[in-house]
Amino acid sequence: MTAAQPVIEITNLHKAYGALEVLKGVSITAQKGHVISLIGSSGSGKSTLLRCCNLLEDSQEGEIRFKGEPVTWKGSGHGRRPADAAQVLRMRTNLSMVFQQFNLWAHMSILQNVMEAPLTVLRRDRDEVEKAARGYLAKVGIGDKCDVYPAQLSGGQQQRAAIARGLCMEPEALLFDEPTSALDPELEQEVVRVIKDLAAEGRTMIIVTHDMKLAADVSDHVVFLHQGLIEEQGPPETLFGAPKSERLRGFLSATHAA
Ligand SMILES: Nc1ncnc2c1ncn2[C@@H]1O[C@H](COP(=O)(O)OP(=O)(O)OP(=O)(O)O)[C@@H](O)[C@H]1O
Ligand SMILES: [Mg+2]
Repeated sequence: MTAAQPVIEITNLHKAYGALEVLKGVSITAQKGHVISLIGSSGSGKSTLLRCCNLLEDSQEGEIRFKGEPVTWKGSGHGRRPADAAQVLRMRTNLSMVFQQFNLWAHMSILQNVMEAPLTVLRRDRDEVEKAARGYLAKVGIGDKCDVYPAQLSGGQQQRAAIARGLCMEPEALLFDEPTSALDPELEQEVVRVIKDLAAEGRTMIIVTHDMKLAADVSDHVVFLHQGLIEEQGPPETLFGAPKSERLRGFLSATHAA
């Protein structure tokens, strides 16, 4: 028997915007069913790492593997690009991204929003997609909102619709970029509950979050990024309970004080 392949394996990733080095050699591995939280101060490179992982951003050096399959590149350095468009599409559809701003289509009903990508990108059967979409909307607690438009939902409901949309692609992993930070505290809890349910189901997830309680509750592994490098990482009990790095201690006490 072969050992299970990690779903996502990033090795020594470097990313710069022009002269600004944002990621300076970052490696993370997400095993199937594991939840990784990325924490760190503003500008430390969390969103950039997530976007590179999904190939929404180019990177200049380092490897990205998806279920053992390495991304193939052409060119090098600032000229490096993914070489295989079909591979990029395959990877993107297998890694659903949920953003801070939910980016729902304003002119489509909630149900249509959730059905759109499986129909147009994956070309799945409409009846099956509709059944699945209704199921995912029910799962995130807004099964009664199928026929309304995004503007008619609260922020927390819109974010849950965005999560249902991500789930409807039946991805291998979900990537969350601050999924609760645009929400009022009470609405935030609705979304936290959905994320906890997904974690309990054994979904593979990478979550960028400022919510240390969420990170502590759901993560198998927490990564603290500082200025484009991993300053410290480990299980949440260790990272939050006994942080070694002075910078992490400073970050945590500033976060708790906020
Ligand atoms: N498209 C871009 N062009 C140029 N610089 C960028 C771009 N996107 C991000 N940066 C810079 O890269 C650095 C890392 O940004 P990133 O968005 O990854 O940080 P972050 O850790 O997600 O921060 P936050 O917690 O504020 O979301 C910052 O200095 C930012 O200004
Ligand atoms: Mg960010």
